[in-house]
This record gives sequence, structure tokens and C-alpha cells, in this order.
Amino acid sequence: MTNKLKYFVGNWKMYGNFSSLRIINQIHRFCSRFKKNGIKDKIILCVPSTLIYFFTTKIKSKFISIGAQNCHYQRSGAFTGSVSASMLKKSGAKYVILGHSENRSEGDTNQVIKKKIESALDQKLYVIFCIGETINEKKKGKTFSVIRKQMKDSIDKKYNLKSIIIAYEPIWSIGTGNIPKVQELKKSFRFIKNEFKKNFKTKTFPVVLYGGSVNDGNIRAFSSISEIDGFLIGGASQSSKKFIDIIKNYYK
Ligand code: PGA
Repeated sequence: MTNKLKYFVGNWKMYGNFSSLRIINQIHRFCSRFKKNGIKDKIILCVPSTLIYFFTTKIKSKFISIGAQNCHYQRSGAFTGSVSASMLKKSGAKYVILGHSENRSEGDTNQVIKKKIESALDQKLYVIFCIGETINEKKKGKTFSVIRKQMKDSIDKKYNLKSIIIAYEPIWSIGTGNIPKVQELKKSFRFIKNEFKKNFKTKTFPVVLYGGSVNDGNIRAFSSISEIDGFLIGGASQSSKKFIDIIKNYYK
């Protein structure tokens, strides 16, 4: 159930500009020193679409991959302001976050997200698929039924499941500083991994990340949970120091 390779994924949200290249350079320098100790992590930075091409052409890092944060489900068409999976791929993105609660709150349903996942997989992008419950759903004891439905409604067993990474992000935890208890997290991660394997009839467990208020101070609490394969980091990923300290402290 445990994946040896740990993922540290940054979600820059609507922040960053060309000079943020400095952040990526600093993370790259850290990785080249750190990796000598034999730790094989995956570092992925999901940046605004306007920066993907610039970063992927400026940075040739074997440690860092660049991803996007959303896409439209059509390949092209009259969709003002939208960007397709094929456009992201051509810009150099390798990953795309889909189903983030901030996009769900703007109208992305499980069905829309399913179409987005299909278009991203079609383009051979890796999908970081976000699931998670609201505080009310948690209080009503509905966490498992909500995340089960999110997975069932947006994933089909005929997909290339190896290209799908799940990010469990309780909505009440995003940007609030509140994180679930260790025991709760263990249960949720076991549930997600078992459900995925059972529903989609896979031989192996999926990679599942935790997201929601991860920072350099609380990361140690997560290191004891072997079921967690990595982290989706929002606010703290916009600073190279904070992002690097998260990785350092995770292994302390
Ligand atoms: P946060 O965001 O780390 O700032 O809570 C996580 C996310 O939205 O993916």
C-alpha cells in the first residue's frame, strides 16, 4: 500500500510571474544536493498556464516537472478564456490538476471533471485528481461516501489508471491551517486506496497525496503515515524556502 517514491507537488494557484523562475532554480539546486543521499522524490510544480512554456524552456531539470492547474475538456473551440489539455501538453506540461475544490466551487461537476480527465489522458498528461469533503459532510459522517462518489463518477476502469494520481484534500483543510488527525488520515488513505483498487479492478494501489495546509511546521506529523505517498502544497509552495523546508523536515 505504501509507495516508496514520495511526491511533493506545488500548486501555485493564481500567483507567480516570469521572475518566479528564481524559485524553481533554488528548488533545483536543493534537489541536486539532496538527491545525492539517494532519496528519489518527484517534484512537480503546477503553475499558471502563462508560465508553463517559459519555465519548461528555461529550466532543464531532471528533478522538477512542470504541471498545469486545470484544463477545458474540448480540444479546441469557441470557449473564451479556456485552455485545452492539448495546448498544455504542447506548452511542455506533464501533469494537470483536475477537480480542485476551487474549480468545483465554480461549477466543475463530477461529470465535467470526468470529461477533463479523459481529454488530459488522451494527451498523455498525468492527472492529479482532487477529491475531498466539506466540513458539513465531515460532520454528518459522509466523508467516505462523498469521496467514493467523486472517484466513481469521474474515473472509468478503462482509463490508463497508472496516469492518475489522487490528491485527497479535505475542503475544510485548504488554506485554513486545520489538518485531519493522524488516525483519521490513516483511515481515509486506506479507504481511498482500497476503493480505487476494488472499483477499477487494478492490481496495484494508486498513488495518493494529501493536500490542505501542509507547511514546514506540520509536515513531521505526516511522516509517520506510510499510506501517504506525497503532498499537494498550495500556499507554502510559492516560496522556495518553505517548499524546501517541507521536504527537509519530512525526512528529518
Ligand atoms: P494549501 O492549498 O496548501 O494552501 O492549503 C492546497 C491546495 O489548494 O491544493
